[in-house]
Amino acid sequence: MALSIGLFYASTTGNTEQIADQIAAMLPDCIHLHDIAVEGVAAMAEYRCLILGIPTWDFGELQEDWAEHWEELSALDLSGKRVALFGLGDQLGYGEWFQDAMGLLDQQVRNAGAQVVVHWPVVGYQFEASKALTEDGQYFVGLALDEDGQHGETEERLQHWLPQVISAFEA
Ligand SMILES: Cc1cc2nc3c(=O)[nH]c(=O)nc-3n(C[C@H](O)[C@H](O)[C@H](O)COP(=O)(O)O)c2cc1C
Repeated sequence: MALSIGLFYASTTGNTEQIADQIAAMLPDCIHLHDIAVEGVAAMAEYRCLILGIPTWDFGELQEDWAEHWEELSALDLSGKRVALFGLGDQLGYGEWFQDAMGLLDQQVRNAGAQVVVHWPVVGYQFEASKALTEDGQYFVGLALDEDGQHGETEERLQHWLPQVISAFEA
């Protein structure tokens, strides 16, 4: 049976939405898109495998729709679920807070019992600080995308990341 993956995202200026659409197009039969601004987060309960997309806003803050559903998310039981994260940020403009929201989301879903899969190397990025790093500082907790400064890297990053996510979901 084909994998069924819930992809939940929210997007203020459309970048994260565009990436969500791109991921869905790469795996047309598997991905079910959910815009949190419209649907909230409750449907996460229906999937064993989740991809979550979040941009960072306002100097290290959650994007507004994620913020609105943050408490609801903390009340979900995500135990037994595998979660892959992707974040949107701007390393040149906001290098002291690069991808912070992805780090906050990682904490939140792990607190809710989920297993977060596929860390992503920091090689190829330039930033001062991020809350989205693993303890050793060598990886982001999910795929870091920068449509403001590194749009040209996105396609290749997705091509490398998505197969790793599928393997981790199928393992
Ligand atoms: C006012 C403002 C604040 C931002 N703050 C951050 C930030 O703290 N950290 C970061 O990595 N990116 C930051 N960004 C960059 C956004 O995350 C980036 O543009 C992203 O692609 C927006 O995604 P969206 O269109 O899905 O909302 C900020 C952008 C703006 C305009």
